[in-house]
Amino acid sequence: MINIGRRARTACDTARNKTILREEVGKMSQATLFAPDIIRYYPAQSGVDNAGIGETAHGERFLLKTDATVCLAEYVGASLCQSVGVPCGQPAVVNYRGRKAFGSRLEAGVESPSSDAEIIDLVRECGNKTIFSAVLAADLAIGNNDRHWGNWLYQRRPDGSVIARAIDFSRAWPTVVPPLECHAMRGHNTQTSFAIWPGLGITYDETTALNVCSTLERMNGEWLSDLFEDLPVDWMISGSGPELCAWWGESWAGRVAEVRDFLKSGAWQ
Ligand SMILES: Nc1ncnc2c1ncn2[C@@H]1O[C@H](COP(=O)(O)OP(=O)(O)O)[C@@H](O)[C@H]1O
Ligand SMILES: [Mg+2]
Repeated sequence: MINIGRRARTACDTARNKTILREEVGKMSQATLFAPDIIRYYPAQSGVDNAGIGETAHGERFLLKTDATVCLAEYVGASLCQSVGVPCGQPAVVNYRGRKAFGSRLEAGVESPSSDAEIIDLVRECGNKTIFSAVLAADLAIGNNDRHWGNWLYQRRPDGSVIARAIDFSRAWPTVVPPLECHAMRGHNTQTSFAIWPGLGITYDETTALNVCSTLERMNGEWLSDLFEDLPVDWMISGSGPELCAWWGESWAGRVAEVRDFLKSGAWQ
């Protein structure tokens, strides 16, 4: 063996370590590696699963969730919505009290309805009503039984119009594994909200819902593994990430097929 000497070996090791570090850094997502620090904290204004609102040094605010499984549920739900082109809360990883937490970046121009009547008016005003059919398909797939009218943002745009944005996937897979059967969601918020769509001027748009299913079908085990690779290691450990990836790889396609059949049969109608 050629003796390259201690100094040279150390230099090689350093170079190799740097390469490994670069590779690791390259593998880690911006989301986890450069998670912003929450330095100010405001208590929650509503909701039960959130840990309040956090603010960074530069004034950006996030609605926070801290339980690892809930963080995964939020990230998966928002990522599904983004992949099917549906407006939702923008998911982020933030540093909160020495741990990684989920943050939904607070949207500007969000209306704060204080009564059911005000919510009804806002839903009626929404200019993007096909979102309700699109999110129905996604919610069914992940078994989200909590799609009540407070789990949307009603965002007024500069031109005065309102768009709905989906938020709050805290009760969806993987907080419940396997996800609730579609029929078993009868009587829960997702179904009871669906039941009053006609009164709110929302038409069930099967084409939109089935198009969403076609995209969801393509989001296979590799899609979930790639997503999880970007998320904090402690969420994976506390939330049993590898088992969740195994479930998704084996069961997701079948789940979406069930949702497709359920939608084709008119959902709960
Ligand atoms: N991205 C966001 N932008 C603005 N407001 C938000 C956002 N996310 C949540 N909120 C507000 O915070 C409330 C609670 O959030 P939500 O995710 O529904 O938490 P919980 O699981 O506690 O119900 C929402 O009803 C909404 O008013
Ligand atoms: Mg909520």
